[in-house]
Amino acid sequence: MRMLVLGGTSMVGRAVAAAGVAAGYEVVCGARGESGAVPAGARLVPVDRDGADPYAPLADERFDAVFDMATMSYPWVSDALRALAGRAAHWTFVSSANVYADTASKGQDTDAPLVEPRYDAGPAEPSADPAVYGAVKVASERAVLDAFGSRAFVVRPGLIVGPDDRSDRFGYWPARFERGGRALVPDVPEQPIQYVDVRDLADWLLLAARERIAGVYDAVGPARPLPELLREIAGVLNAQVELVPRGPAELFAAGINPWAGPRSLPMWLPDSHLGLAARAHDRAARAGLAHRPLADTVRAALAREHELGGLVRSRIAGLTPEEETTALA
Ligand SMILES: NC(=O)c1ccc[n+]([C@@H]2O[C@H](COP(=O)([O-])OP(=O)(O)OC[C@H]3O[C@@H](n4cnc5c(N)ncnc54)[C@H](OP(=O)(O)O)[C@@H]3O)[C@@H](O)[C@H]2O)c1
Repeated sequence: MRMLVLGGTSMVGRAVAAAGVAAGYEVVCGARGESGAVPAGARLVPVDRDGADPYAPLADERFDAVFDMATMSYPWVSDALRALAGRAAHWTFVSSANVYADTASKGQDTDAPLVEPRYDAGPAEPSADPAVYGAVKVASERAVLDAFGSRAFVVRPGLIVGPDDRSDRFGYWPARFERGGRALVPDVPEQPIQYVDVRDLADWLLLAARERIAGVYDAVGPARPLPELLREIAGVLNAQVELVPRGPAELFAAGINPWAGPRSLPMWLPDSHLGLAARAHDRAARAGLAHRPLADTVRAALAREHELGGLVRSRIAGLTPEEETTALA
């Protein structure tokens, strides 16, 4: 198979490219090369999607499969389709669970209502505003489905974890538990959480391209209670840690944020967003999305934490030791 990854220098695209190389495919990555290097064995073709005629370096090339990682710009997607659709047999677009209008209700499937699309140009980087991000993704999905119809594969991941994760969310917990002592955790027995390991997602995207699977899927694993997941992470590491639960009201009063970002307890969701982590996962499972054991994901996340500077470092998500100590006091 001859495949093109629009991306390939960062988390999801890089994992797809690496899986393609491992499978023995010819892998071309179209990106600037600013986010990182492509995996060994893949070829980087310089593509700047904000530049003039970005796909000229790929002129005359044909692909069995294209994987588009466009984050937050409808023109990126429509321009790529215009330039490449006639030379590709199968097209995968990595969308997001942020396309859904109802973020609160649990158990929704891919036929749930979507936010209104936005076709006006978005910035290249994912917006801080999830509503804008979701609206651009809806517009992008429509363009892919219009252009490729029964050869389009659109996947909507929620939380993606694993190697090269730059969000600092999942990795906070293995790093925190490995450090030991008293660890502040959200007291949310009813909160579901679901995730997909980027390596499992990449394997599935490759399988879908190979087998010409089409349609729209939520790329998520089974939902489970967050407290159970956190206990299991600590268990995998055999961590000498005491989990100290505090309820949402107390956490909010202490100025601690849910989900991500500074001064947060990552993966804790407010009630208004529980639906984002409790989507139906069985369609994707039937279409071949398989999930590795949690222990593998946890050990990979901890290894990355050590690579990035150890168990205490400047992070973009989570609590500093001082913030946690103050909140526990
Ligand atoms: N990470 C998550 O948890 C998550 C969750 C749900 C959905 N998603 C979706 O999954 C997809 C991949 O996510 P990710 O986290 O792997 O994305 P990412 O880290 O933002 O990488 C995006 C890719 O876009 C390329 N890029 C950026 N600016 C470019 C430009 N001007 N021209 C050409 N290429 C450019 C980057 O390469 P260069 O900088 O080298 O050019 C990089 O390879 C995205 O569509 C995202 O919305 C991610």
